[in-house]
Amino acid sequence: MTTTKKATLSFSDGTPSIEFPVHSGATGPDVIDIRKLYGATGKFTFDPGFLSTAACESKITYIDGDKGELLYRGYPIEQIAEKCDYLDTCYLLLNGDLPDAKQSKDFNWTVMHHTMVHEQMTRFFQGFRRDAHPMAVLVGCVGALSAFYHDSLDISNSEHRMISSIRLVAKMPTLVAMAYKYSIGQPFMYPKNDLSYTANFMRMMFGTPCEEYTPNPVLVKALDRILILHADHEQNASTSTVRLAGSSGANPFACIAAGIATLWGPAHGGANEACLVMLDELQRAGGVEKIGEFIRQVKDKSSNVKLMGFGHRVYKNYDPRAKLMRETCYEVLEELGLENDPLLKIAMKLEQIALEDDYFVQRKLYPNVDYYSGIVQRALGIPTDMFTCIFALARTVGWIAQWAEMISDPDQKIGRPRQLYNGSVRRDIR
Ligand code: ACO
Repeated sequence: MTTTKKATLSFSDGTPSIEFPVHSGATGPDVIDIRKLYGATGKFTFDPGFLSTAACESKITYIDGDKGELLYRGYPIEQIAEKCDYLDTCYLLLNGDLPDAKQSKDFNWTVMHHTMVHEQMTRFFQGFRRDAHPMAVLVGCVGALSAFYHDSLDISNSEHRMISSIRLVAKMPTLVAMAYKYSIGQPFMYPKNDLSYTANFMRMMFGTPCEEYTPNPVLVKALDRILILHADHEQNASTSTVRLAGSSGANPFACIAAGIATLWGPAHGGANEACLVMLDELQRAGGVEKIGEFIRQVKDKSSNVKLMGFGHRVYKNYDPRAKLMRETCYEVLEELGLENDPLLKIAMKLEQIALEDDYFVQRKLYPNVDYYSGIVQRALGIPTDMFTCIFALARTVGWIAQWAEMISDPDQKIGRPRQLYNGSVRRDIR
């Protein structure tokens, strides 16, 4: 960080003007450091939704929303998606650089030898109704992990932080698959460590003890890519939640459970589920023919209908992950002989119409990663209500990398936003 510029804030109420340092990062917009504002003037800034507020300093992920660029530790997402697998991506996010061959092998071994969960965890699942939303199950079970690993919960110890990080990355596929198996009444599958991370997950999801499960490499690669594309995304709602929860000193398992809860919402990780539901409903209503009417509803503000999988707080050009996801979508559907999938047809037509419509053009609304990821996941056999769990699995590494970065920052403080109070002023009970 360099600090060579200054910003001056002046007031119309007689408060003396005040100068703030302006910091420049490695790239991206400068930030005005207003930390001394309240002490000097007795005033707060007001920025609900963090539209103009950088809440932390980070070296992990960079997004240029206007260019449609996403970098993990400096590497473009397109190159990572092409040349790395998910575990190498995890190593990169956690350690700052890509692993060499030995580091990659060791990291793989370590993660794959932490994939089992404590046998008692199975009882947690039995406490849930079979029709519980799997995200409800996941929030509970990931939070519950903190009850099992007292040996590594000293967050001031960097070794403990790394052990917890590995445990989370390693056990998430097991827990997600258990949530699915529980919902359909099939036995839990134990991990098989000689498979790749993603192939092992697919086996735990779709295999049964009755017969051997042979993962299809095209489908494994597709799911691995979904994991890579969702691995981190800078200071989004769930990541900021993890940081805020962690800022109080809470243990990493509890913080990740808070992140999962935030991810669940349809404006965030729930969008891929909501998008597929939208495409399904359109198909049932008459398919491609009904798109015009649907677009009219989306544009009518009183209808509260949104084009799910479109729009992004940061990307105002295109979401680079959406392009990669569309590519994967074609590969998977071709592999499975589903090129004529009716939902894909509707999705493509809807995208084409929206991209030419003034409403979307003026507001810079483009497909986001979730527009096509639902179609891919459905083709892989993943049920709709599991989509957000897959997102949570993928994002766990990003959350934990961001959490660890925050904890190791010597300037870290508990997060405590302020407010503009507009309620009753002091009054007495009569
Ligand atoms: N469909 C229709 N209109 C939209 C959409 C959409 N998907 N997204 C934004 N708009 C409109 C808004 O109504 C608003 O219109 P106005 O200026 O006339 O009031 C304008 O575009 C700006 O949108 P905001 O809501 O202010 O943008 P914001 O940055 O707050 O929201 C968000 C971004 C939440 C992603 C929004 O675009 C949305 O709800 N999209 C659909 C859900 C979705 O796909 N979420 C996934 C995000 S990616 C992820 O989490 C991995």
